Amino acid sequence: MPEVVIVTGGAGFIGSSLVDALVARGDLVTVIDNLSTGHESNLKHARASGAAFVNADIRDAGAVDGVFSRVSPSVVFHLAAQIDVRRSVIDPAHDADVNVLGTVNVLSAAYRYGARRVINTSTGGAIYGAADTIPTPEEAPARPLAAYGTSKLCGEQYCDWFRRLHGLSTVTLRLANVYGPRQDPLGEAGVVAIFCDQLLAGQAPTVFGTGAQTRDFVFVEDVVVAQLAAASATVEGIINIGTGKATTVLDLIGAVGRAGAEEGAPSMLAPTVFGEPREGEVEHSCLAIGRARDDLGFSASTQLVDGLRQTLQWVGGHRAQRGAGAAD
Ligand SMILES: NC(=O)c1ccc[n+]([C@@H]2O[C@H](COP(=O)([O-])OP(=O)(O)OC[C@H]3O[C@@H](n4cnc5c(N)ncnc54)[C@H](O)[C@@H]3O)[C@@H](O)[C@H]2O)c1
Repeated sequence: MPEVVIVTGGAGFIGSSLVDALVARGDLVTVIDNLSTGHESNLKHARASGAAFVNADIRDAGAVDGVFSRVSPSVVFHLAAQIDVRRSVIDPAHDADVNVLGTVNVLSAAYRYGARRVINTSTGGAIYGAADTIPTPEEAPARPLAAYGTSKLCGEQYCDWFRRLHGLSTVTLRLANVYGPRQDPLGEAGVVAIFCDQLLAGQAPTVFGTGAQTRDFVFVEDVVVAQLAAASATVEGIINIGTGKATTVLDLIGAVGRAGAEEGAPSMLAPTVFGEPREGEVEHSCLAIGRARDDLGFSASTQLVDGLRQTLQWVGGHRAQRGAGAAD
């Protein structure tokens, strides 16, 4: 049976990949997005296949209510967020406005119009901070270093509050470092997209710190598989979504170079620029994945080099579109 679905943040990097998968399986999808970082072009194929797009801000409770009252979704995927960690530190009020108040508006409307399930999107690394245990399990203490981690944690707690008080079925997926097609190569968050762009531009990648810091890089299509599994499941609470494997930034650069060689791209230059470590960044981040395996039957199946190859192909197309070749 097709589901009636609302995806907030559906014009963004992860959200639009999810929307494509939902449309492909025949669901009736409405996207709510204010296009602050997302792009309508990400929804080109989905809209051609019947997905609806509403340009609205989740901070606007009336607008959110209006969409939910028209659509009456059975499932809500909540991805819309202020995701810029540094902006969250400079302007924590704006960060909280979107990530806390916006989340409350979405949850209130989901409850009011009878959604059977809300899949909330949160973050592992930014919530666990400098964790004692790596890979880090869900029960580890939350020690956010940036306001972003605090606001996402607060959003999770509102999910739990709606569940306890109103019986709204919610599950929160704490994502690791997601990479893949449609991640902004000019943004701050996507180190993989940035390295791919630098490779194709023939530039040496910039590494902040020694490059020995580690991250858990999970491919966006694997995240979508986890999101779909979370919608069908009944389990509630918090579930990490990652690979459980730690990759150093220097190893990532090597892997981007190898994927590039397979794609016929120029050779990856050695990182010549080692910048100062970034304030507020944790040294090591990797998520324990036992709960995702046990409760969702999920494990990430994409090998890093395969995901990187697909990312490089997309970044190459994106560079061609923005005319970067001429500008570089
Ligand atoms: N990319 C990652 O590595 C990663 C890791 C952990 C968690 N997450 C979470 O995944 C979700 C999606 O992130 P992404 O990487 O796809 O980023 P993104 O910026 O591409 O997507 C966020 C989307 O939300 C929209 N949006 C922002 N503020 C809005 C508002 N006030 N009203 C309506 N729409 C709004 C943006 O326009 C964008 O389309 C976020 O909740 C983020 O916290 C991402």
